[in-house]
Amino acid sequence: MKKNEKRVRMPSAASIVARSYPDRIIGIENTLPWHLRTDLQLFKQRTQGHAVIMGRKTFESIGKPLPKRTNIILSRTEPAFLKEFPTLKWARDPETALLLADIESIISGNMKFFVIGGDQIYRVFEKYINSIFVTDVFCGNINGDAKFELDFGQRDDDTKTEWIVRSEDDFPKTEFDQYPFRITQYVRRKPFHRYRVKEELMGREPDFAVLLERYEAKLEQDGTDQLDFFE
Ligand SMILES: NC(=O)c1ccc[n+]([C@@H]2O[C@H](COP(=O)([O-])OP(=O)(O)OC[C@H]3O[C@@H](n4cnc5c(N)ncnc54)[C@H](OP(=O)(O)O)[C@@H]3O)[C@@H](O)[C@H]2O)c1
Repeated sequence: MKKNEKRVRMPSAASIVARSYPDRIIGIENTLPWHLRTDLQLFKQRTQGHAVIMGRKTFESIGKPLPKRTNIILSRTEPAFLKEFPTLKWARDPETALLLADIESIISGNMKFFVIGGDQIYRVFEKYINSIFVTDVFCGNINGDAKFELDFGQRDDDTKTEWIVRSEDDFPKTEFDQYPFRITQYVRRKPFHRYRVKEELMGREPDFAVLLERYEAKLEQDGTDQLDFFE
């Protein structure tokens, strides 16, 4: 960093995943192994208005851009479907995906964006994720070819775990939800912060400087209390 260059803390990476309990399966043959309408509705509520980063295969399994979200698709080669869906943003590597998510979040006044899978993409961004909603689906043993293996530690030794349980809600099986499930929100005890030099972000949108100032004001309000940061 050069002298006088000002660094700004970037928006935080959050995530959201549904996995089978106890096997941690998240997908089979590029589809979800269950139908959980309530879980999908909550996914929508939580991610709408934010930037979302997903892998090329997950995008193909969804088949179209998620509405009211900036969809950032990771692929090492330019996907042919970009022509069909011009609102998509393509990132050829994780750094580009983060830069796009940072800029889009600052423009829309968001302090966080979401990493939404699949298997490969969760692994790539795992170290950056500071907050995650995990749906444990009580479907018994099922077959799958995609997993989410992250372990959140032992509850009975809470002082030493890397993750803190923020909330936990149980949902029953219903005519719309194929299995009972539990949603737990974990937050990282010591969040991972990313910073960028201000100049790196400038010269994009005409009003970007104003938007960045607004974002920085919000950062100041949030202070250093990361637990409140994720509300
Ligand atoms: N249950 C859930 O919550 C949940 C959520 C999301 C997805 N899923 C499931 O997960 C499965 C898909 O997961 P997946 O692991 O097979 O695929 P994925 O993570 O969705 O996408 C993988 C693709 O991302 C691109 N990619 C990966 N690492 C990259 C890197 N470092 N740089 C640039 N591009 C990179 C590559 O695209 P290219 O090959 O084009 O280069 C790669 O083939 C599906 O079954 C889906 O239904 C489940």
